[in-house]
Amino acid sequence: MKSGGRLRPYAILAVLSLATVANFLMRLPHGQVEAGILLAVAWILALNHWRGRRLSDALLQESIVQLKETVSRWASGDLEARVYLDQEDPLDSLAHGMNGVAEVLRERTRDLGEDKDRLETILASMANGIIIFGHGLGISLINQAAMSLFMIDEPNPQGRHVLEIIRDTGLHDALARVTREGVTVTQDWSPVEDDNVVIECTIAPINQPVGGLGAVLVARDVSSQRQVNRLRQDFVANVSHELQTPLTIIKGFTETLMDDPQLDMTPRFLELIYEETNRMTRLVDDLLALSRMEHHSLPVRWQWVDLTVLIEGTRTKLLARAKKQGLDLGSQLPAHLPLVFGDPDLLSELFLNLIANAIQYTPQGGEVNIDSLVDPDGEMIAIRIRDSGIGIPSQDLSRIFERFYRVDRARSRASGGTGLGLAIVKHIIELHHGRIQVKSAVGQGSEFIVWLSTREGRGR
Ligand SMILES: Nc1ncnc2c1ncn2[C@@H]1O[C@H](COP(=O)(O)OP(=O)(O)OP(=O)(O)O)[C@@H](O)[C@H]1O
Ligand SMILES: [Mg+2]
Repeated sequence: MKSGGRLRPYAILAVLSLATVANFLMRLPHGQVEAGILLAVAWILALNHWRGRRLSDALLQESIVQLKETVSRWASGDLEARVYLDQEDPLDSLAHGMNGVAEVLRERTRDLGEDKDRLETILASMANGIIIFGHGLGISLINQAAMSLFMIDEPNPQGRHVLEIIRDTGLHDALARVTREGVTVTQDWSPVEDDNVVIECTIAPINQPVGGLGAVLVARDVSSQRQVNRLRQDFVANVSHELQTPLTIIKGFTETLMDDPQLDMTPRFLELIYEETNRMTRLVDDLLALSRMEHHSLPVRWQWVDLTVLIEGTRTKLLARAKKQGLDLGSQLPAHLPLVFGDPDLLSELFLNLIANAIQYTPQGGEVNIDSLVDPDGEMIAIRIRDSGIGIPSQDLSRIFERFYRVDRARSRASGGTGLGLAIVKHIIELHHGRIQVKSAVGQGSEFIVWLSTREGRGR
């Protein structure tokens, strides 16, 4: 061929093929670099031709075919492919350069792959949920923690709109605001059927390669933290309320007596003042005991305890109260129960509370009965306190061990209760690594079963 003239058909074909592959690559993610290289190759080819290098038709054609094939393999993702031409071939230096570029690309792709794997591992192992939203609020990435926090059972939420997957307009509106105004927003989310679960979502804007702003949402389960805060607030409110009533009564009677110290009712008023003072003292004592148990600062005298002897002592103390209420307080504890390892004072307090409750919540003519159970391997024994009393509604059963919780507040208060007895019971049992079961039916009675260990060291 006479150089410097027109492009020969094969050269045109080669340049066109390279340009076509480059065009295809342009549309692939991260394909712009490869496309650029191909376009450069096509450009150099054309230039070489125009510069008039003399090449043998057959050699050139064969080299171009090789170059084309290699480029096609790169285009299909095989970055290991290399092109090797004859050293004499004028396109050899070009092939050499292309191989070098392929090597760099291969390493970059590998690094990118490693970065991606690392990111996926981090995201998968995070306790916090992460969701990345593209422009238009479609989900572009979501980790496993977010799937479980938002209870998403859709196997493939990627690409779906937020409302299709989380179905919460509040969250949608917060996301829309973030992508519209570029601000960071914190928003709580709870499943419709359970508002005890609280997921705190922090949503921040992120720049997207195309379109407007996207958003990244970081979700954290704050349910227990919120519950603790709520309990603390309830606790302060409850203590204040419990103290307010006796204080008001004491203040009222004291003022009346100050106005007229010779009043006929003076002895009765003093009696009421004394009762309310006692109530407050008991409340403060119970609160202090609970607090010491919670902070493990209560001295515990660990020793072997004979529960039959201990409970008989407690029963004797309460017999008069049961009799006064017209109740039969019976016991079927065997003379020789396996010993349990624990603190006798705390265990007395535990059974005193349970038996006193059984008496308190059983109307006249009813009965309270104490017996025992032993588990098959003899490692635990249980003391069962049954009454034929008013029973506990099923919706209250899970709450009766909470501080100040009373099914019937007025009735409990009238009989001098503070609502702390079962909270103390629960703590004493926890301290002994035991457990308690409750069965109850309204109008029929209740059954409290306390399991304690018969092995030394289990209690500590
Ligand atoms: N044997 C029982 N039968 C029926 N209700 C019971 C029984 N034991 C407990 N309860 C219910 O559980 C609530 C909590 O009991 P808890 O012993 O903690 O408080 P309390 O008896 O009201 O006051 P106190 O602090 O003086 O014991 C009671 O108010 C009562 O409603
Ligand atoms: Mg009680």
